[in-house]
Amino acid sequence: MKILVIGSGGREHAIAKKLLDSDKVKQVYVAKGNPGMLNDGIHLVGIAENDHEGLIQFAKDNQISWTFVGPEVPLLNGIVDDFTAAELKIFGPTKAAAAIEGSKNFAKEIMNKYEIPTAKYKTFSSFPEAKAYVKEEGAPIVIKADGLAAGKGVVVAFTGEEAITALSDMLEGNQFEESSSQVVIEEFLEGEEFSLLSFVNGEKVYPMAIAQDHKRAYDGDKGPNTGGMGAYSPVPQIPQKTVDLALESIVRPIVSGMVKEGCSFTGILYAGLIATNEGLKVIEFNARFGDPETQVVLPRLTSDLAQIIDDLLNGNEPVVTWLEDGITLGVVVAAEEYPKEYQKGMLLPSNVNNLEVTPYYAGVSIDEQGRLIANGGRVFLLCATAKDVETAQREVYDELEKESLDGFFYRKDIGEKAKKV
Ligand code: AMP
Ligand code: GLY
Repeated sequence: MKILVIGSGGREHAIAKKLLDSDKVKQVYVAKGNPGMLNDGIHLVGIAENDHEGLIQFAKDNQISWTFVGPEVPLLNGIVDDFTAAELKIFGPTKAAAAIEGSKNFAKEIMNKYEIPTAKYKTFSSFPEAKAYVKEEGAPIVIKADGLAAGKGVVVAFTGEEAITALSDMLEGNQFEESSSQVVIEEFLEGEEFSLLSFVNGEKVYPMAIAQDHKRAYDGDKGPNTGGMGAYSPVPQIPQKTVDLALESIVRPIVSGMVKEGCSFTGILYAGLIATNEGLKVIEFNARFGDPETQVVLPRLTSDLAQIIDDLLNGNEPVVTWLEDGITLGVVVAAEEYPKEYQKGMLLPSNVNNLEVTPYYAGVSIDEQGRLIANGGRVFLLCATAKDVETAQREVYDELEKESLDGFFYRKDIGEKAKKV
């Protein structure tokens, strides 16, 4: 098989690398990918992810068996619909099904209809009305831009003032443009968060190993929300019976709800969940693999990813098996100041690939001498699989401490919560 992956980050690096492990796969192309992927034998294709025509032509010209879509933006732009119309195979949800991620309001409505537990909420597009609701409800309270905002559209406000500033930025200041012309105001939930991703095909659900992300920029879960600063899988403090309950009370009902609504979901469904004192609740759904969760989940897959996707696309029963023992942990190295305005051009360490750790590259380009330099907020992730969390942390952090990482930062506490058990 020859496979095309769409996207350019660490998530796509992990997907492409795993696909290449398959004996059936001859070539993996990534559009646009990044130069950090080249060492793994991945081919880069210089076509932008919003150039559907160009990608379709590439898939035709190169006899691509099927295409895998990494990020949410092309899904919400209807890339699956366009490839399907061109009679090309592609794995991911249609534009209508991707609305489970693209509109928080749509997600909330479908959850309510199918009695899937989630935070109490109200939707607003008027600033005065939203402000009045915040005054009525009090803090802490959560403000979310309705549409996509690269993981940065959520403000957990601990005071009324913070909430009102966020509302004013989104509704009056057009902070996320069209994405924040409507906001969802949500009850504040407390508990252990985890991500449960599944391969989905209509009513069929094949769950993955669970993971936990670290969304805040700084140690101790301080600072602004980011795309994710590190992750580990599985999550020992979440018992299997909680995962089973999540599948039965959340994932299967939403998937069959989508079939009933006429927007059947095929692709990767990401459930962001929280175990509160009142039970499990949904924080969000995404219509794709998570980043950085993918970089710690896929290394734990012991069956053939390419075969799984091929089976799902052809209506066959896939074999999905996972490593039972140990833990996989990944730490994101980001440009200083991320998620605010950040610097670019810093040289990356060149020797981070040893037997214990695996790098997955994201915001990188190359300089005139062909060396990797930083070109984005989250630059790369180092990942290790070990017998326990302490060992995995040591392997990753020992390597990072050896490197000179001027102009970069990373969290030093990835995986700490897993030590509580
Ligand atoms: P989201 O982009 O919806 O995943 O939100 C980003 C992060 O904000 C989540 O991972 C949570 O840590 C936090 N968050 C979102 N919604 C809530 C909520 N209702 N209560 C508490 N924290 C939340
Ligand atoms: N890591 C969170 C996300 O991919 O949405």
